[in-house]
Amino acid sequence: MSILVIGGAGYIGSHMVKQLSTSGTEVITLDNLSCGYRDAIKYGEFVEGDLGDPAVLDHVFSNYNIDAVMHFAAFIEVGESVSNPAKYYRNNVLNTMVLLDAMIQHDIGDFIFSSTAAIFGEPEYTPIDEKHGKNPINTYGRTKLMVEQILQDYDTAYGLKSTCLRYFNAAARASSSATAILSWRTASTATSAGNAARRSPATGRSRRGICGGCFNS
Ligand SMILES: NC(=O)c1ccc[n+]([C@@H]2O[C@H](COP(=O)([O-])OP(=O)(O)OC[C@H]3O[C@@H](n4cnc5c(N)ncnc54)[C@H](O)[C@@H]3O)[C@@H](O)[C@H]2O)c1
Repeated sequence: MSILVIGGAGYIGSHMVKQLSTSGTEVITLDNLSCGYRDAIKYGEFVEGDLGDPAVLDHVFSNYNIDAVMHFAAFIEVGESVSNPAKYYRNNVLNTMVLLDAMIQHDIGDFIFSSTAAIFGEPEYTPIDEKHGKNPINTYGRTKLMVEQILQDYDTAYGLKSTCLRYFNAAARASSSATAILSWRTASTATSAGNAARRSPATGRSRRGICGGCFNS
């Protein structure tokens, strides 16, 4: 099995590449190194390029036998997303659509999207679960919610199956700790309980959340 990890030179993506590679999965990393580091890519193949470039995507999908795509490439600064929304909508939404269209063109039907707990906005109750309202309070959160909505429509129309990882701020020791995530899948909803103290990506304040899945980083 071969997985394309986009944003694999970044903080979370590089841990995902390590996890996949050390468990025997073939990994190809695509990253434009705008916020990531070449030195962070220690496993698998690396293609330097932009996820919004159809020629780069065509090259990758034509030259590697990709089974699924994991998408960790985005701009992530809440404050900057408010002062420069064009930058965030362009990279986080428009470029993601270029990627999704290339996947459909190349008949790749499985997608994992690094979303965020910021799609929920201010908690109406805790622990937050999947029934909680989605009301992001900043541009960054809105870009992620837009992609989640696009993914629902792409599932209905084109059969693209996706899972969205809605985590709070990720922090873990590389060797042993677990990173808590709340995941949601277009095909099916799966949530099991587990509380975790987390810092709100929207406000920076600590709060308690619920996590629907965990993976070790
Ligand atoms: N860090 C967290 O606590 C956290 C919490 C919730 C969600 N997320 C989400 O997880 C993902 C990864 O976060 P991170 O903290 O690892 O960020 P990061 O900035 O460390 O990594 C992002 C990577 O994507 C690359 N990238 C950005 N735009 C690109 C483009 N157009 N083409 C190719 N590569 C591009 C960057 O060079 C970088 O290597 C993001 O989508 C973020 O929204 C992160």
